[in-house]
Amino acid sequence: MAKQAKIRFGAIGCGGMGTHRIKQMVSHELGVELVAAVDIDPPRLDNLAEVIGSNAFVRYTGVNDYKRMIDENELDAVGIFTPHIPHYDHLKYALLKGRNVLIEKPMVCGAANALEVTKLAKDKGVTALLTYQRHYELKFMKARELIAKGAIGDLTNFFVYMAQDWCGRTWRGEPEFSGGGQINDSGSHYQDILLWMTGLLPVSAEGHIDSIYRGKKLKVEYNGSFNVALTGGVSGRVVILSDIPGGFVDDVRICGTKGSIFFRGDQVILFDQDTKEYTEVPLSRPAGYPLSPVDNFVKLLRKKVRINRVPFIFGSRVALLTEAMLRSGHQKGKKILCADILKESNHTMADLED
Ligand SMILES: NC(=O)c1ccc[n+]([C@@H]2O[C@H](COP(=O)([O-])OP(=O)(O)OC[C@H]3O[C@@H](n4cnc5c(N)ncnc54)[C@H](O)[C@@H]3O)[C@@H](O)[C@H]2O)c1
Repeated sequence: MAKQAKIRFGAIGCGGMGTHRIKQMVSHELGVELVAAVDIDPPRLDNLAEVIGSNAFVRYTGVNDYKRMIDENELDAVGIFTPHIPHYDHLKYALLKGRNVLIEKPMVCGAANALEVTKLAKDKGVTALLTYQRHYELKFMKARELIAKGAIGDLTNFFVYMAQDWCGRTWRGEPEFSGGGQINDSGSHYQDILLWMTGLLPVSAEGHIDSIYRGKKLKVEYNGSFNVALTGGVSGRVVILSDIPGGFVDDVRICGTKGSIFFRGDQVILFDQDTKEYTEVPLSRPAGYPLSPVDNFVKLLRKKVRINRVPFIFGSRVALLTEAMLRSGHQKGKKILCADILKESNHTMADLED
């Protein structure tokens, strides 16, 4: 039987996460080759060649060379792994050129931009996947399934906390690249799992932010605490912190009329309101469920799976919630309605539906 041609992949941004994802792509059993890569810091391309064990890709190093890379190579798919604000230009160009895209979180900054690229991807009919890896983690997948099945009854409230020693290194500490500091960086994962697990949409946010890391006032949003309201009258607290010494901590609890779900390490714990019992829920990957964003993306391109587990609509929902949180923080805790943000770009909540 004739061997199938490899998927021709091009990458924009070959730093820490770009290199990791590119390695996953070129190692995939269904055949992907890195045809071209662009990074404005040439040693990153040297490092990439070393990590993937190949120099056989076309190199670009100019700040706008992502356009040349896309135009000069016959690419099936483009990966975008650059700092947050440039995501929008890089993604839009790839989509306008009809390429399938894999993009790092947070898809793009701001609800208007996010809904624009979501629509563009749909209109172009391309495969577009956002790399929220928690959609492939058994504990979050199980929690989502239990919530959808009504295991904790009607949802009432939630608590979402993540803290990390996040110093805002390089572009992360620069407002013109970061697009919202830690609230928009690691926080983006937590806004996402809240919305993804509950299946609800953001309604409003009110809370406070600060830019203080280890006693110094810096340029981006390092810490924040917000009251967040979702559809269905569900509300709760989202706390995102950077100022914790020694590592990464999180705590996510979703509560309903019959009980609650929370996590202990990689385990899901179900609390039953009537019996007051705590049960550890067994976890397993459903047959055919992809292992990772890259696995899902490649299998979609190869038509080995049909479901995109992180389509762009999730990026739009998170962009809206994150924007509401950041706006509130910058306006001394004023309650920000998501519908008002959407109105500014002539969108409505209906645009956030699947
Ligand atoms: N999913 C996750 O858990 C996770 C973890 C870390 C990072 N990320 C995401 O990955 C993305 C990149 O983060 P990182 O940690 O790899 O940062 P990084 O600084 O290591 O890499 C970014 C790279 O982009 C390059 N770059 C900047 N502007 C460019 C341009 N115009 N054209 C080409 N290259 C350009 C930089 O030189 C750098 O090599 C961000 O969106 C970040 O949020 C996701």
